[in-house]
Amino acid sequence: MAKLVITKLADALGAEVSGADLSKPIPKDELEQIFAAWKAHLVLRFRGTELSDPQLLAVSRYFGEIDPPGPNSYGKPFLEDFPDINVISNIKSGDQHIGGLGDGEAVWHADMTYIDTPPKASFLHALEIPEFGGNTSWGNMCLAYDTLPSHLKQEIKGRKAIHDGTYNSAGMIRKGMKDVTDPREAPGAHHPLVAKHPESGLPTLFLGRRRNSYILGMDLEASNQLLDALWEHAGSPEFTFTQVWQLHDLILWDNRCTLHRRDSFDPKARRLMHRTQIKGSSVIPFE
Ligand code: OGA
Ligand code: MN
Repeated sequence: MAKLVITKLADALGAEVSGADLSKPIPKDELEQIFAAWKAHLVLRFRGTELSDPQLLAVSRYFGEIDPPGPNSYGKPFLEDFPDINVISNIKSGDQHIGGLGDGEAVWHADMTYIDTPPKASFLHALEIPEFGGNTSWGNMCLAYDTLPSHLKQEIKGRKAIHDGTYNSAGMIRKGMKDVTDPREAPGAHHPLVAKHPESGLPTLFLGRRRNSYILGMDLEASNQLLDALWEHAGSPEFTFTQVWQLHDLILWDNRCTLHRRDSFDPKARRLMHRTQIKGSSVIPFE
């Protein structure tokens, strides 16, 4: 039996995995335990795991093929030697940003759902953290769907929404995108509002992000009202786990059935995360 210990972090989702040495190849029995814990808890935290960039890539590859970062606002990869790694940071070197997302709030979202095949998983590895703020929360969207009032379940049955690709979660316009004010014209993928998780088969609310979202085939106003009701429910604290970062934490999440957001932090403080994501498949409607 593997020697790993799995401890729940919140009722809704999240678990800590202790006893793993991620700097070395992971033994098969431990890997099986990690996969099972990930399936059950959706967000996994490994503490005190200082990883080099090649080690972060090696750990990520156990979960599938690396999905390179989407285009950032600065037009070139943040790490020239490791273009498959993204950098999330407010730090500047001279007048150059060394990473994305800045120091402000990042609103609730799932990663890159504006493409047809959004990543299935993302990893964040904390290399520098501020003393206060910059906490990250995740929400369990299978639970959000399960507990959705039945009239809302009825209203979204069989419906799809546009997942806007114009803005990132920090409200910055993505490279090459034009400002969009009418969500019906937002560029981006169309995904079912209730998706079937490819591994568990469970239904999950699949919202992406609120800004410029639009439910296809509805009046704009009716779509906005329904989306507001869904988002109000999805953001309820009982579905969430909040991470107060420690140096060298590694967090891995299931991007298919969770949302996440980040608190702002002191612009004078430094926060540095290296990040990978894993290729996903097209979003299957739950019928
Ligand atoms: C991300 C993200 C939040 C954070 O990397 O996808 O949303 O805590 N990051 O920096
Ligand atoms: Mn994100």
